[in-house]
This record gives sequence, structure tokens and C-alpha cells, in this order.
Amino acid sequence: MRRHAVLAALTCLTLTAACSAPAGTDGGGGEDDGVPLVGVAMPSTTLERWVGDGENLEAQLSSLGYEVQLQYAENDVATQVDQIAGMIDAGADALVVGSIDGSALQAVLADAGRAGIPVIAYDRLIRDSADVEYYASFDNWRVGVMQGTALLQGLGVLDAAGQATGVPGPFHVELFAGSPDDNNATFFFEGAMSLLQPHLDSGVLVVPSGQTALADIGTPGWDNAVAAERMARLLPAYQGTGVRLDGVLAPNDGIARAVLDEAAVLGQPLVVTGQDAELDSVRLVAEGVQQSTVYKDTRQLAEVAVGMVRALLDGGEPEVNDTTSYDNGVRVVRSYLLTPQLVTQDNYERVLVDSGYYAAEEIG
Ligand code: BGC
Repeated sequence: MRRHAVLAALTCLTLTAACSAPAGTDGGGGEDDGVPLVGVAMPSTTLERWVGDGENLEAQLSSLGYEVQLQYAENDVATQVDQIAGMIDAGADALVVGSIDGSALQAVLADAGRAGIPVIAYDRLIRDSADVEYYASFDNWRVGVMQGTALLQGLGVLDAAGQATGVPGPFHVELFAGSPDDNNATFFFEGAMSLLQPHLDSGVLVVPSGQTALADIGTPGWDNAVAAERMARLLPAYQGTGVRLDGVLAPNDGIARAVLDEAAVLGQPLVVTGQDAELDSVRLVAEGVQQSTVYKDTRQLAEVAVGMVRALLDGGEPEVNDTTSYDNGVRVVRSYLLTPQLVTQDNYERVLVDSGYYAAEEIG
């Protein structure tokens, strides 16, 4: 552990500003007492899931006897860079990073690399860096495929088995995507479009706004308020025009609820997808208001990341199941991808209650 501390100190000579320890830093007991220190950098506390991820990681790492420094950057890239620099300074032996901007961490991770600190990208791929050793995530392309499938099933274009029903449409839909700086957003969108594009080409689906490119439909910072504003701008095309809005591709539950709230003025049901199985959205799925969500068990994701940390600190090789999908622009990052699950009104009890993720009373 000392080697890291010394190298980190050297790094600090060149990075003075970034090396001031942030409030709450424990000084990295890992350097002195032989207990490994694991730095966990998470994007923000504004989304239920990241809070759960942080708690799961902290609990599981602590139970292995590691010291943990967990920090949230509230979606501010500079804050996250400072936090990671602080962890390196504190003598971290491994870093687990849920990035905000996947392309903004090269410099600070180069410092980690020079200090011999392995970096695991958590949930979101870190791009353009040679210093990311491993990636723990869900199969993000598949998440998008599920969202595209769910939208088509909700509209009746596909049946429950995923077979085309032959309905001619046209169905009017609008598309929303996640934050353009999050590598996952592209995977979700392209996975969904792999299902939707043929139906757009055939005219069964129509996007009245004409906005179908990721650049036009992205939601910077995954900010629900930004999505709500965009939805409000789209609505006049469906008010008193005789054009009915049938569905919205929403990339996660926060954006799904923002869309549903805005679209309430239409006074009609709407097929809206989601992701994360957030409690508020699961309730809406149970009521039939939100058509679906995608469940990603963050307990399992934490287990995968913790297993990687453990293997690396023990001098072993983390288990991976994908060595081709995630090219970060510099290297193909070895990945362990978990399987997401589509959740609808028909299966939410089996998938979410029987698995112990939620108690039936919580959903109501
Ligand atoms: C995660 C989603 C999450 C979104 C917004 C994505 O990278 O995979 O689960 O909803 O970020 O935080």
C-alpha cells in the first residue's frame, strides 16, 4: 500500500490543486495500517439507483475488511475529477468509478495508472483512457432492445412473444435519449433503434417532430427537467391538431415520469418505456400508467465490481464475460455484463417482489 502512497504524493507535487483532501476524507488509513483503501466515485445522489449502488458497494467492500471512501459528485465533472484525485492522494489501492462524463477522466486516471492503482469503470464505460482495467455493467445494448420491444408491444406492433402483428399503424411516437456524454446512452438508443428503425422505415411508426437523431433527442445530464421542457415543446403538435401521440421512448424512469407528467394535459393513455425499476415508476407500471421499466439489480452489479476489486487486490484476474463489446477508443475494456430484465404490469410481482428487491406493500 505504501508504494501507492509515495507515488500519489509524487503525483501531488504536480497536481497541487487537485490534491487538497475533500471534506470528509479520512486521510486514507489504508496507507498506514495495511488495510486496502478502495475509492468509490459515484455520479450523483439525485437518482435513487446511484444511492443504492453506493450503499451496496460500501457495505460489500467493508464486509471484506476494506476501507472505503465513497463520494458523490452531484453530476459536476470537475468535482468528480477532484474527488478521484483526492482518493489517489489518500493512497487508494483501487478505484471504482461511475463516471459523469465518460470522456473527461483521462488526466486524473493517468495519475492513477502511474500510481499503479487499478480502475474499474462502474455501470458506465470510461472512454478515451488506457487506464481503465475492467468494466462492470449490464448489457446496455440489450436494455435498449428491451425498451424498443416494450414500446412496440405497448403499441400492439409486436405481440407478447415479440412477433409482428401486422397492424398497419401509423402510430405517432416521440423519442428521448439519455445524456450524450454517457456512453450507455448511445447503447440504449442504438439498441432500441435496432427494433424501431424498420417500423419507421415502413411507416408503421411516425415521429411527427422529425427528431430521431441522438443529437436532437438526448437529455444532457440525464436531467429530468430538461426532458420535461422538451416534452412541453413537443406537445402543441398533439393539442387540438387531430394528431394523437401514441407512445414515447423514454430511456429511464426519471425521464419517463417527466414525460408522463407533461403529457397528462393530453388526457389520454400513452405507451412510455423506462429503466431502473425505481419505486415510483414500478407503482406506475403496476397501475398501467407507465408501460414498462427495465430492472437492473444493483446489488448484483456491486457484487461484480467488488469481486473485481478483490481479485485485483489479491493479485488475481477478475472474471469477465465480454472481451469485445466495449472499445473505449483506446482499448477494448474487459467487461462483465449482467442481464437486465424487462418489467411490465404482467410480471412486476414475480420479477421485483419475489426476488426481494421490493416488498409488495411498498408498491402498494
Ligand atoms: C445508467 C442508468 C441511469 C442513467 C441516469 C445510466 O448510465 O445505466 O441506469 O438511469 O445513467 O443516471
